[in-house]
Amino acid sequence: KRHLISAADLTRDDAVLILDTAEEMARVADRPIKKLPTLRGRTVVNLFFEDSTRTRISFEAAAKRLSADVINFSAKGSSVSKGESLKDTALTLEAMGADAVVIRHGASGAPYRLATSGWIDGAVVNAGDGTHEHPTQALLDAFTMRRRLVGADAGIGRDLDGRRITIVGDVLHSRVARSNVHLLHTLGAEVTLVAPPTLVPIGVEQWPCEVSYDLDHVLPKSDAVMMLRVQRERMNAAFFPTEREYSRRYGLDGDRMARMPEHAIVMHPGPMNRGMEITAQVADSDRCTAVEQVANGVSTRMAVLYLLLGGNESAISPTPARTE
Ligand code: CP
Repeated sequence: KRHLISAADLTRDDAVLILDTAEEMARVADRPIKKLPTLRGRTVVNLFFEDSTRTRISFEAAAKRLSADVINFSAKGSSVSKGESLKDTALTLEAMGADAVVIRHGASGAPYRLATSGWIDGAVVNAGDGTHEHPTQALLDAFTMRRRLVGADAGIGRDLDGRRITIVGDVLHSRVARSNVHLLHTLGAEVTLVAPPTLVPIGVEQWPCEVSYDLDHVLPKSDAVMMLRVQRERMNAAFFPTEREYSRRYGLDGDRMARMPEHAIVMHPGPMNRGMEITAQVADSDRCTAVEQVANGVSTRMAVLYLLLGGNESAISPTPARTE
């Protein structure tokens, strides 16, 4: 049985296989008939305990393009609000014959629990768990970087060796940052995190990356700059630094973007706080790949579902390892 719980579980071969398969899937998306019959008769359940726009919609589109049946479950409006546990929810899905469960949950480790519990037989895909990981976001980000930074004929067999990627902002609460650091390191990139000292996680020195507090110093040496959303909903104390101070020191505006090399791109996983970590001018510029990332998410998630449910047996780690 195979799952995708953490980007840290992926070997370089796994990651490259997923990215290469995503390139093939992107070619399908360019055809007049966008569907493949590969997962006909299989059922994918989107199990979302936390809000989502991009991830939920793109997993749904990906599964449908592979001809799978899709069940969308949102905790809001379900019996979870009456106190039903993850176990009983999982047993209900199992009774409905789920072949894959795509889970987003506020608790770090919930997908790991689901994958190792024996409650369900299907593959488990982590669609974001607490502040832990969001592996398919990292894969679609790597796919986008590979296309934009490795050249016009990027794709099949290419990786990100030596590319310099800067990830900026609320790293403390960011599952996107953690997944990206692991995956980008696996693919050979050099990652620098830039954040206020209060938004750097404890133990970051064990992550395979550098840490800087000076955005202006790092920007001229970056091939891609990934801006993170400030996650106010996960902050229970007064926000520090203040919003104004944060924008001034860590926000990306037109002047700062001009310090980046000409070829460098600006990325954002979404949703964006325009005016906080990124100005509208930068978000709407040609250099910002946020919308492209969303489109690439469908191809990447098609590749993940295809490899887990129908494709190459050697892809994706068979046993998820806990990485916290
Ligand atoms: N990037 C991302 O995970 O967006 P959603 O929360 O809208 O799914």
